[in-house]
Amino acid sequence: MPINTPTLRQQFPITETWNYLNHATHGPFSIGTATAIADLAHAWTQPADLDHSGNDKTVDAVRQMIAGMVNGRPENMAFTGSLAESMSLAAAGIDWNDGDNCVIPEQEFPSVVYPFLNLEHRGVSVRFAPKGADGFTSLDEIRAVTDQRTRAIVVSHVEFMSGFRNDLSALAQLAHDLDAVLIVDVTQSLGPCEIDVQASGVDVIAAHSYKWLMASYGVGVTHLSDRAIERIHPTYAGRLSVDLGFEDLGYELRWRKGAARYQAGGLNWITLAGLQASLDVITSMSPADIAEHTVRLTDRFLDGVEQQGLEIRSSRDPKHRSAIVAFTTGSEQADADLVKKLDAQKISVVQRGLGIRVSPYFYNTEDEIDQLLDALQS
Ligand SMILES: Cc1ncc(COP(=O)(O)O)c(C=O)c1O
Repeated sequence: MPINTPTLRQQFPITETWNYLNHATHGPFSIGTATAIADLAHAWTQPADLDHSGNDKTVDAVRQMIAGMVNGRPENMAFTGSLAESMSLAAAGIDWNDGDNCVIPEQEFPSVVYPFLNLEHRGVSVRFAPKGADGFTSLDEIRAVTDQRTRAIVVSHVEFMSGFRNDLSALAQLAHDLDAVLIVDVTQSLGPCEIDVQASGVDVIAAHSYKWLMASYGVGVTHLSDRAIERIHPTYAGRLSVDLGFEDLGYELRWRKGAARYQAGGLNWITLAGLQASLDVITSMSPADIAEHTVRLTDRFLDGVEQQGLEIRSSRDPKHRSAIVAFTTGSEQADADLVKKLDAQKISVVQRGLGIRVSPYFYNTEDEIDQLLDALQS
């Protein structure tokens, strides 16, 4: 079903001031999100009047909504503080043996890589899968660096610079054939792309909430398959990890069922309240409709970029497309100058390693893409 952009735009004040094509950097708040956060922040001035059971209700609601978006299960969801923390708990919790390895494509986002480099003292090495001649890491390039000691394959679903979308089903198959786990950063895809944790077989997905989930910092959403929960031992532990109440000082370390065991202490209720309001908007559309909309906009943009003789730095293969595309003038300095010029015209994009990154979302329009193309032309 086509997305009703005019109605959606009314909920996003950013649309009154900016042509905002930068969701891979920061997701703007809707009016509902800003209100939910402000209301809760205000309510905290009077904690004695606050209904603290609202915390659990918010957590449950967000769990349900995220699980629904990815065809997962609410009881397999855990909240952390960031993508780096979700990756760290997955990395540290695997029962590694000296000499094991994990495989990660080159040029991955740092929070994907460091948690695994941090396993060196446990005898675990990181093997980087190289980019091919086309600038992207194919399944074959990943397969080529695996071996019988590979215990994890770690990727971003959508790469942060080029927007290259990895094939999760094929990667899960590869990982499972090796009896390894597939751990995926979905920070750049949860919201704008379709994800099905059951159909794809992916073991762990995790995302920070301040980009496409349009909430704030401080909440990492994580979904672990039953297979992953069996294999990943909790690294952090605290009052929320166990079945006992915090007044029970028997200290029986009895893990909670499902993924709740990975949550250690009090969760970021304020960001979760904002996230709940954001998800009300995001889940009012189907993931397929959002994906179709953003790919249509980025296709229109890439066609225009090509006509202007600029270089595209993203894959145009439909299997690898996402809501992120990148292009370059060919010069880093000219790219930087161009971003500044666009900024002065209230068009928000960003320079990232490969060139200039453009990342529209569900409320952006073809007119906004054309405005960007006109600005590039001039
Ligand atoms: C692919 C990707 N993952 C994760 C993050 C955020 O990571 P963290 O939650 O560790 O701050 C970003 C931010 O740019 C990103 O692009």
